[in-house]
Amino acid sequence: MAASSAHRCSFLLLCLCFTLLLCFRSCAAFARAARGIRFSVGDIAAVEAALPSLRQAKKTTFFEVDRPLRPPRGSSGPCSTLLLSHAFASTFNKPPVTAAYSPPSCLADAGGGARAVSLAVLEWSADCHGAQYERIFGVWLGGAELLRGSTAEPRPGGVTWTVNKDVTKYASVLAAGNSTLAVYLGNLIDDNYNGVYNANLTLHLYFRSAARSPSAASAPADRVIPVSRSTPLNDGLWFVVDNTTEVESTRLTVPANAHRAVLEVYVSSHDFDEFWYMNTPDQNGPFREVTVHLDGDVVGAVWPFPVIYTGGINPLIWRPITSIGSFNMPTYDVELTPFLGKLLDGKEHELGFAVTNAQKSWYVDANLHLWLDPKASATSGGLITYNAPKLTGSIVSKSSDGIDGEYDATASRNISATGWVSSSRGNITTTFTQRLTFVHTNVVSNQGSTQAINQTTEAHTEVTGDGPHTQQLHQSFPLYIFLGGDGSGTSSQRLMRRVEIGFDEMRAGSGERSASTLHNAQTAAAEVVLRDDQVVGASWQMHQVYEYGGSDGGCYSRNVSSVGYDVLFDHNEASCAGTRRR
Ligand SMILES: *[C@@H]1O[C@H](CO)[C@@H](O)[C@H](O)[C@H]1NC(C)=O
Ligand SMILES: *[C@@H]1O[C@H](CO)[C@@H](O)[C@H](O)[C@H]1NC(C)=O
Ligand SMILES: *[C@@H]1O[C@H](CO)[C@@H](O)[C@H](O)[C@H]1NC(C)=O
Ligand SMILES: *[C@@H]1O[C@H](CO)[C@@H](O)[C@H](O)[C@H]1NC(C)=O
Ligand SMILES: *[C@@H]1O[C@H](CO)[C@@H](O)[C@H](O)[C@H]1NC(C)=O
Ligand SMILES: *[C@@H]1O[C@H](CO)[C@@H](O)[C@H](O)[C@H]1NC(C)=O
Ligand SMILES: *[C@@H]1O[C@H](CO)[C@@H](O)[C@H](O)[C@H]1NC(C)=O
Repeated sequence: MAASSAHRCSFLLLCLCFTLLLCFRSCAAFARAARGIRFSVGDIAAVEAALPSLRQAKKTTFFEVDRPLRPPRGSSGPCSTLLLSHAFASTFNKPPVTAAYSPPSCLADAGGGARAVSLAVLEWSADCHGAQYERIFGVWLGGAELLRGSTAEPRPGGVTWTVNKDVTKYASVLAAGNSTLAVYLGNLIDDNYNGVYNANLTLHLYFRSAARSPSAASAPADRVIPVSRSTPLNDGLWFVVDNTTEVESTRLTVPANAHRAVLEVYVSSHDFDEFWYMNTPDQNGPFREVTVHLDGDVVGAVWPFPVIYTGGINPLIWRPITSIGSFNMPTYDVELTPFLGKLLDGKEHELGFAVTNAQKSWYVDANLHLWLDPKASATSGGLITYNAPKLTGSIVSKSSDGIDGEYDATASRNISATGWVSSSRGNITTTFTQRLTFVHTNVVSNQGSTQAINQTTEAHTEVTGDGPHTQQLHQSFPLYIFLGGDGSGTSSQRLMRRVEIGFDEMRAGSGERSASTLHNAQTAAAEVVLRDDQVVGASWQMHQVYEYGGSDGGCYSRNVSSVGYDVLFDHNEASCAGTRRR
C-alpha cells in the first residue's frame, strides 16, 4: 500500500475493511457495497481464485518501461558489488536495514575519484510470494537518498522485478569513503498478508578511459549533502509531512568554495493523499505541491508527477507492466545557485519542505548537489533579484448535493531568482525560473460511484545566465482516470477502471547530454464482473509507448501492449531513426 498505516482503509469504510479481512482466503466473494477507489489484496486474490485461466505455473515478472542504461563509449566495466541482500518481513516501524559501505576496490584501482566513474547503476532485484500489499521503499547512502520505489504486489505463485537506476550523479557519495547504506521497506506480516520481500541491491560501476574527463557542464557534483532525517529512526530517512501548515526542515552548512548548488527533491504521497488528484473539496481538493523553503523563503516548488503505485486504482491494471515511475520514482531539481551568496557565509541555514493542501502523509527529502571551486578555498555571491508571488488558484464546485457534480480546480505559480557567484571561473550570473500550471476537472455521478478525472500539470523550469550550466526543461503530466460500473445494487455488476497517464519532457541546454525529449504514455483499462458478489470474470489491458531521443545519439523507443498477464506485442528500437521527431 506504500503507506504508513497497517492496512489500506483510508478510502473504504472501516467495516468494509473488516469484511475483506474476514473474507480473504475463506471465500472468493468480492467486497460488497460501493467501492472506494482501490481494490484490496483480498479483492485481487478473489479474482485470481475465481478464474482458472489465471492459475499461475511460475513466478511472474513485472516491469516498468524505461530506457536501458549504456556506459559512454570507451568505458570499462562493469565492476559489480552486492551492497545488501535482505528479506523484508515485519519491518514496518522498525529501523532501516543497514550495511557498512566502503567504496569498491575497483574504484580505487580506476583512480579513486568520483571523476573516474562514467556510469554508476544501482540495481534493485526483488521477489515476493503469497499475499501482500505493495510497500514503499527508499535507499540511502550516507543519508543521501539514491532510490525510491514501490514494490510489486505479489501473486500466490510469486512475482519478481528489477530496477536499474542511473546513480552517476551520486558518484561523490559512492567514492567518498566508508559510510552506511540504509534501506527502509515498511512491510507487515500477519495471518493474511504473508508476502516477504526479498531484495538484492547491487552497484555496477563503469569507468572512463584515463584520457577522457567529463565536461564541466555534465560532471556530477563534488559534494552531495543529504537533506533528510538521521538514524536512529523507526522509519525511512524521509521527512513526513501530514498537513498543509507543517514545515519539515534541517540545518546545514555549505562548503565555502561552492559555485553551483542544485537541490534534488524526492517525494511520495501516502494514506489520505495517496491519490491526491482524486480528492474532492472536503479532502483539501486535488492540488498538491511541495515547496522548498530556504531560511523561511519559498525558493522553489515541485509539482509532482502522479505516481500510481502497483496497488492503485485496480492493481490488475499494473500487471505485468507497472505504472510510470512506480518502481523508480522521478526526482525534481531546484536550482539554488542564485541563493549561494546567502549560503556561503559559513553559517547554518535552514532548508525545509511543506506540502500545500497536504493531508496525511507525504514523504519528502532531498539531496543538495554542490560543485566546488578546485582552485579557490572561498567563493562569494549575492542575490540580485528574487520574486516568488503567492500560489494562485481556485476550486469551483458545481454540485447541488455535495457529492455528485463537477469540481474544477486550477493552480499556477511563478518563482524566479537571479544571483551572482564569483569564483576562479569568473563572476557568473544565474537565473532560475519556474512557471507552473495545473488544470483539473472531476466529474462525479451516480451518488459518487462514478468519477472521471482529467488533469494536466505543466512545469517550465529554466536555468539561464552567462555560465556553462543552462537548461530549459518543460514537463507535462497528463492524467485521466475513470472509475465506474454498472448494475450497482443488482445481482450482476461490472466494475470498470480506465487510466491514461503520460510523462512528457523536453530538455535543452548546455552539456554533452543535455538535450533530450521523452514521450512516455500509458493507456490502460480493467473490468471485473461480479454475479451475486462472486467474481465471474476479469479482464484488463495496457498499452504503453515510450519514445526517447537524446542529443548524444542515445535514442530508445518501445511500443508494448499486454492483455491480462500476457504481453501481446513488444517492439523496441535503440536507434534514433525509429524515434519520431516531436
Ligand atoms: C539475491 O542473490 C542471491 C545470491 O546470488 C540469489 O540466490 C537470490 O535469488 C537473489 N534474490 C533476488 C530476489 O534477486
Ligand atoms: C573502511 O572499511 C573497510 C572495510 O570495513 C576497512 O578495512 C577500512 O579500514 C575502513 N577505512 C576507514 C578509513 O575507516
Ligand atoms: C500539523 O502537523 C504538525 C506536525 O505533526 C502539528 O504540530 C500541527 O499541530 C498540525 N497542524 C494542524 C493544523 O493540524
Ligand atoms: C507567470 O508568468 C507568466 C509568464 O510570464 C504569466 O503569463 C502568468 O500570468 C504568471 N502567473 C502567475 C500566477 O503569476
Ligand atoms: C559580480 O557581478 C555582480 C553584478 O553582476 C556585482 O554586483 C558583484 O559585485 C560582482 N562581484 C564581484 C566579486 O566582482
Ligand atoms: C482531457 O482534457 C483534455 C483537455 O481538455 C482533452 O484534450 C482530452 O481529450 C481529455 N481526455 C479525456 C480522456 O477525456
Ligand atoms: C505500436 O505497435 C502496434 C502493433 O504493431 C502498431 O499498430 C502501432 O501503430 C504502434 N504504435 C506506435 C506509436 O508506434
